[in-house]
Amino acid sequence: MKTKILFVCLGNICRSPAAEQIMRETVERAGLSARITVDSAGTYGGHAGDLPDPRMRSAAARRGYTLTHRARKIREEDFERFDRIVVMDDMNYETVHRLAPSPEAAQKIFRMREFFRRFAHWSHVPDPYYEGHEGFELVLDMLEEGCSVLLDEIRG
Ligand code: 4NP
Repeated sequence: MKTKILFVCLGNICRSPAAEQIMRETVERAGLSARITVDSAGTYGGHAGDLPDPRMRSAAARRGYTLTHRARKIREEDFERFDRIVVMDDMNYETVHRLAPSPEAAQKIFRMREFFRRFAHWSHVPDPYYEGHEGFELVLDMLEEGCSVLLDEIRG
């Protein structure tokens, strides 16, 4: 059975498109692309249609990830299309939870921090939008760890 994962942040131009591509490549390296598919969305639609933030694109490119996702806002039907919805912080969690059409659908929502090991002391993936260079590197470090642990969990 196919597992479909949607990563969600606020703007869908920094954290979640990076998570999407990191997860896609982690899955590819594991040879599981036929079994696991990924996408991303934001709770705020103000950047819809935009490529990821140039600072995130260049930080990701230095690690070999090419970010080409176009931002979009999460919709209620995403609860039907995806098996897991992985949010970056508590504000995303609250917004996505309010959108869930049923209690069963709400059980599809996970926080990225649930997949942290080295970063287990963090309660969320910090929004790098207003940060300097280090903010983006920290987010990428967190997402690489979280995606690897998430994949291990899906594989069982
Ligand atoms: P993201 O970062 O949620 O990681 O994509 C943000 C991008 C844009 C805004 C906020 C956060 N914004 O307010 O425009």
